[in-house]
Amino acid sequence: MNIILLGPPGAGKGTQAHILVDERGMIQLSTGDMLRDAKDSGTEMGKVVADVMARGDLVTDEIVIGLIREKLQGEKGGGFIFDGFPRTLPQADALGELLAECGETLDAVIEMQVDDDALVGRITARSTCAGCGAVYNDVTKPIPADGVCTNCGEAKGFTRRADDNEESLKNRLMEYYKKTSPLIGYYYAKGMLQSVNGLGEIADVKSSIAGALDG
Ligand code: AP5
Ligand code: MG
Repeated sequence: MNIILLGPPGAGKGTQAHILVDERGMIQLSTGDMLRDAKDSGTEMGKVVADVMARGDLVTDEIVIGLIREKLQGEKGGGFIFDGFPRTLPQADALGELLAECGETLDAVIEMQVDDDALVGRITARSTCAGCGAVYNDVTKPIPADGVCTNCGEAKGFTRRADDNEESLKNRLMEYYKKTSPLIGYYYAKGMLQSVNGLGEIADVKSSIAGALDG
């Protein structure tokens, strides 16, 4: 089963994708994570995207479609979770074509609905394990006092993202409403959209997603 997790910054896409990977053996394809890896490893592409991402603007369709194409050719089995991709109508068209080329289909698009005030609170409190990428939150899921990640069991430290500040977040939200939210109508018209309330506890959101996928 191949699915898209669609929602604004801070909706919980990464959090729920990690759960689906752990519990269902699916493969998470997060373009945000791929771009941050490119930036951290100092590749030419990483240098190009660093400022764009820090401002909260979208990276070009060409770059992100290229990243997804590479992953789809390299990875097999388990089902893909597209996390943060597609984010524009051209990306959505490209995903359909790429999946068809690999003989795969898109099975569901889960829209995670969260109100904007909650997003600001979530994002400005977020940190990530530098070892495995597990997501923490100062309020709802604090970093363990001993500094050991509960997911990977390592103490590699916890990082804050360069774009997790109020100014970049405003821009990320504007980009979402202008360029990404039209995908809700796009996938509704294709009969694939399922909307879940992303505002509850992480476990409740997980159950809603399971209901949408299995129900
Ligand atoms: P990306 O990394 O995709 O960021 P995003 O879409 O802004 O989303 P986030 O990762 O911030 O939020 P999330 O929904 O994953 O929430 P999370 O689970 O972490 O993209 C970053 C940038 O890369 C973009 O701005 C753009 O520049 C570029 N980019 C990426 N893809 C692109 C594309 N396709 N095209 C063009 N450019 C692209 O949760 C957030 C916090 O909330 C955490 O602290 C978590 O613990 C907490 N939380 C989660 N769920 C709950 C809950 N139910 N209750 C309480 N707290 C919760
Ligand atoms: Mg994310």
